[in-house]
Amino acid sequence: MAKLIAGNWKMHGLSAEAAALASALKEGASPVAGVRAELLVCPPFTALATVGAVLRDSPIALGAQDCHPAPSGAHTGDVSAPMLKDLGARFVILGHSERRTGHGESDALVRAKVASAIAAGLIPIVCVGESLAEREAGREEAVVSAQLAASLSDDFAAACGTVAYEPVWAIGTGRTPTAQQIAAMHALIRAGLAARFGAAGGDPLILYGGSVKPDNAASILALPEVGGALVGGASLVAADFLAIAAAA
Ligand code: 13P
Repeated sequence: MAKLIAGNWKMHGLSAEAAALASALKEGASPVAGVRAELLVCPPFTALATVGAVLRDSPIALGAQDCHPAPSGAHTGDVSAPMLKDLGARFVILGHSERRTGHGESDALVRAKVASAIAAGLIPIVCVGESLAEREAGREEAVVSAQLAASLSDDFAAACGTVAYEPVWAIGTGRTPTAQQIAAMHALIRAGLAARFGAAGGDPLILYGGSVKPDNAASILALPEVGGALVGGASLVAADFLAIAAAA
């Protein structure tokens, strides 16, 4: 199965910058250039339409970074899953640690968002991961298992949902877990999904995220447990994102 390399642009990119980045990715993302991975970019809401127009007829998929759990309603400032689908998004990142901490999102809220995304025909990418204090206390497996159990809706596996393991202490820090630590956590996540969803879970894609860069991508993506990468900072530089994709 091809690995999935997903770019989370976070709160970056005015429309002209977003269009330029999408164009550069579209030009560079070809098997001829050594890119065999599936590519996905998740721009901010405000650039979705622009980036979607640039990427039309390209192999690069479009995704968003969050959605509201309701399909519509009196929710000032929020964006629903059907709205994202309407703009051409195929994926949506949910439960990112920056939303769990910055917006107090609970596992229950993430689960409701996952159900809403699936109902709208989107593929959810659900983020889980421990803080540094939790890892130092040896609680990383318990934390991730609990997040996983409570953040996924019952139709997650049938909808080809994806999990991203993103240790909070690796995000934007330049620090990454060891290959052994990544492999162990991915195996734990895979076992948790298999126990809950059984055969309906198929062969779920589990991504690693947290300071993935061109110089460490090959070793991380070579791990058989790792189905791809969720890339933050390096996804804002076309050459870096494409180099990560070429390493897959
Ligand atoms: P960085 O790649 O900048 O560490 O961000 C990772 C991330 O949060 C992706 O969702």
